[in-house]
Amino acid sequence: MIGNLNHVAIAVPDLDAAAETYKNTLGAKVSGKQDLPEHGVTVVFVELPNSKIELLHPLGQNSPIASFLEKQPSGGIHHICYEVDNILQARDQLVATGARVLGEGEPKIGAHGNPVLFLHPKDFCGTLIELEHVGAALQQQL
Ligand code: CO
Repeated sequence: MIGNLNHVAIAVPDLDAAAETYKNTLGAKVSGKQDLPEHGVTVVFVELPNSKIELLHPLGQNSPIASFLEKQPSGGIHHICYEVDNILQARDQLVATGARVLGEGEPKIGAHGNPVLFLHPKDFCGTLIELEHVGAALQQQL
């Protein structure tokens, strides 16, 4: 079901400092900041030859990563994102096995303009998983 690793997301207390570290210390190609109000985060993407790192910082009142940073003030790995060809099919297949999809269970548009869903960490080895749809455009209105 899952395809390529799309990105690993790291929650950080200081987005500018984290972007600087990746750019200057690690010598990576780093994007500008992007606000994603629907997800409650501001992101910076680090482009690697075979994948990406997503640096996440809370945005707004109810950011899902605010409590994560309270527990891990210096930051830490927040989720990993796998690509799937058909996110609705993947979701239905996972739900049928008892896996829990977070939120309403409907895909939202993610940072790359593709539909995404999140899966409960307790069902997947303690790791929050994001699925990103990379196949043909979905029929459903998102
Ligand atoms: Co992500």
